[in-house]
Amino acid sequence: MRVDILTLFPGMFAGPFSESMLKRAQEKGLASIHLHDIRDYTTDKHHVVDDYPYGGGAGMVMKPEPVYAALQSVFAEDGGHPTPAVLLMTPQGERFTQAIARELVEQPWLVIICGHYEGVDERIRQHMVTRELSIGDYVLTGGELPAMVITETVIRLIPGVMGSDQSAEEESFAAGLLEYPHYTRPPEFMGWRVPPVLLSGHHAEVEKWRRRQSLLRTAVRRPDLLDGMEIVAADRQWLSEALAEHGATAAQG
Ligand code: ADE
Repeated sequence: MRVDILTLFPGMFAGPFSESMLKRAQEKGLASIHLHDIRDYTTDKHHVVDDYPYGGGAGMVMKPEPVYAALQSVFAEDGGHPTPAVLLMTPQGERFTQAIARELVEQPWLVIICGHYEGVDERIRQHMVTRELSIGDYVLTGGELPAMVITETVIRLIPGVMGSDQSAEEESFAAGLLEYPHYTRPPEFMGWRVPPVLLSGHHAEVEKWRRRQSLLRTAVRRPDLLDGMEIVAADRQWLSEALAEHGATAAQG
C-alpha cells in the first residue's frame, strides 16, 4: 500500500512514522508513506498557503492552488497504481471506524489531505476529494493527528504487518465486541489473583470465559455495539445474570 500525505507540517509525522509498527511495515516493504509539504507547491515569493475568506468572517482558508498542484504532482508519481482514494481530514467528515479502516486497507493507494485553519477551499473538497473523514466529535487544530490515526489503523491491517494475524482478528471491534480482559504472570500480584479458569489449561473453558467476558464488557461499556447482534441463548442467559450482578455490585459502590 502507498500512502501520500499532504500537509503544512510534515515534521509532525517524524516520530510516529519512524517507530514501532509503522516503521516495521515500511521496512518490510508492505507500506510506503510519502509526505508532501503543501507549501512547496506555492508559486509566489512568500509561499502563501492561506487567505481571507470571501464574504468576511474570522479565520483563514487554505488556498486551492497549492493543494491542487500537490495533488497533481502526487498523481503523476503513480508508478502503475490506479487512481488513489483522496481523503480529506475534517471534523465535518464521516466518523472513522474500524469498519472504514477495513474498507480502506483494500485500496492500494491513499492520498490524505490535512486541513488547517478554517479548512480547505470548498472547490478542492467538491472536485478532488473522494471521502471526508473525522476521527471524532471534537476539533483539532489540523488534520495531521487524524491522518496519523487513520494511517496507523489501516496499515496495521495489511496482512503480514502484525506479528500474528490472529491478534488482529481477535481484538476489540473485529467481531463487533470489545475484547476480553488480559492477564500475564505472576498468577498473584499484590494479593490480586488471575481468574482461575485461565490457569486451568482447559481450552474450551478459557474460550467460553473469554467470549462471555467480551459480551459483558461490551454490554456494560458500549451497549450500542450489541444492537442487532445475535447472541446464543446460553450466553444471553449468562449475560443477563452477570449484568444484574454487575448492577448490584456497582450500586454497592
Ligand atoms: N480536523 C480538525 N479536527 C478533526 C477531526 N476531529 N477529525 C478529522 N480532522 C479534523
